[in-house]
Amino acid sequence: MRAGRLLFEVELPLSQSPLIRKKTEIMGVSPTVNPKLSRRRFIKGVIYSSAAAASGAGYYLASAQTNSNAVMERLLSLNINGQTRLVDVSPSETLAFTLRNKLALTGLKVACNRGECGACTVLLDDVANYSCSLLTHTIKDRAITTIEGLRTADGQLSAVQQGFIEELAPQCGFCTPGQVMSATALLISNPNPTREDARQALAGNLCRCGAYDHYLNGVMRASELLS
Ligand code: FES
Ligand code: FES
Repeated sequence: MRAGRLLFEVELPLSQSPLIRKKTEIMGVSPTVNPKLSRRRFIKGVIYSSAAAASGAGYYLASAQTNSNAVMERLLSLNINGQTRLVDVSPSETLAFTLRNKLALTGLKVACNRGECGACTVLLDDVANYSCSLLTHTIKDRAITTIEGLRTADGQLSAVQQGFIEELAPQCGFCTPGQVMSATALLISNPNPTREDARQALAGNLCRCGAYDHYLNGVMRASELLS
């Protein structure tokens, strides 16, 4: 397209030069008279047009191929809360971003966004992980559980959620989803933890309200509910 436009814009001269006549024949262009167009400018036009045609076509084909690969790579099938979710994911996208912004699973929070606070905690194969520090492409074969997936099929709260409520664990509640997920991972691997076990399991979840003891009470209550 671009090459054609360039050729069209150049009013080719009926030049006296055999070389120029030859080139216009090769390019399939009907020459018109333009006395102001010098031989030098005409040759430049032909060269630019040829280069544009070659590079333009190459660029177009290359970008088409790249886009095709990108589309194939970006469409991921994720196992989230027991369901298969198809989602368009860019290569540099974090799991927290995908879950919150692409799948509307906004229970997890993003606070530090660099693996320090635990507000974004989810389970991968029943192990607590910071979703802000994982690229979604790297976990496509794992079972992802968010806080939205903890309720039972009939709508009952999980033991951890119930235990936290009974012990009035949260204050502002911002860190609560992360605390719940870490406690859930603990109770999956160890349904009868000591208070020290619970403290260690929740050590990666910061609470700016300082409600740590209340959360530990909640974990111990949840353990009782499970037994
Ligand atoms: S937001 Fe992920 S650890 Fe803080
Ligand atoms: S309850 Fe407010 S940050 Fe933990």
